[in-house]
Amino acid sequence: MELIFATRNAHKAEEVAQILAGSGIQLLTLDAFPDLTEEIPEDAPTFDENALQKARYVYQRTGLPCVADDSGLEVDALRGAPGVHSKRFSPEADAPHNNALLLHLLEGQEERAARFRCAIAVVGPEGERTAEGRCEGQIATAPRGEGGFGYDPIFLPEDYPGRAMAELSMGEKNAISHRGRAFRQLPSLLKRRD
Ligand code: IMP
Repeated sequence: MELIFATRNAHKAEEVAQILAGSGIQLLTLDAFPDLTEEIPEDAPTFDENALQKARYVYQRTGLPCVADDSGLEVDALRGAPGVHSKRFSPEADAPHNNALLLHLLEGQEERAARFRCAIAVVGPEGERTAEGRCEGQIATAPRGEGGFGYDPIFLPEDYPGRAMAELSMGEKNAISHRGRAFRQLPSLLKRRD
């Protein structure tokens, strides 16, 4: 089965392709739709509403079933920030500045619990469905590792004690990540009839 994946993030698309390998689901990213050049709206206050907003938009524009995800990092000591604003947390809105700002805000802070969350939404002729995955961990005191993207260098997942997310292989990350846990539900979401 073929679905559009509403993303232009090549790294994310690569992770999801690996997560879905062998599932029989093929994803086409927005790069396959050069006419769809506009920014896709994602201004809702929650991850699942944002994922639904993106998937609905792409389904309406293309007429093809679409899966979208919305993800981000919630830090308990910052009352859930950066949350849905994870991509544009710092004024520069890039990973090194976002990470530096987060480390700065947590300087001297012992409570460093955090989690990545990923909501997925499927929208097509059969309706709308959502699912979510989470990955619990701690914010490190300095960046480490070269893998992954975004906040991976400063996130210490509880499933791999002593290692940052950016120090994991893609397979190791996908096994425990918020995105892996969300997208592994996609085959059953597509089969669900309600
Ligand atoms: P998006 O809404 O899924 O594009 O994610 C928003 C932002 O959350 C990204 O730009 C990253 O800053 C952060 N993020 C989401 N997933 C990950 C991840 O797997 N690792 C690190 N950062 C992530």
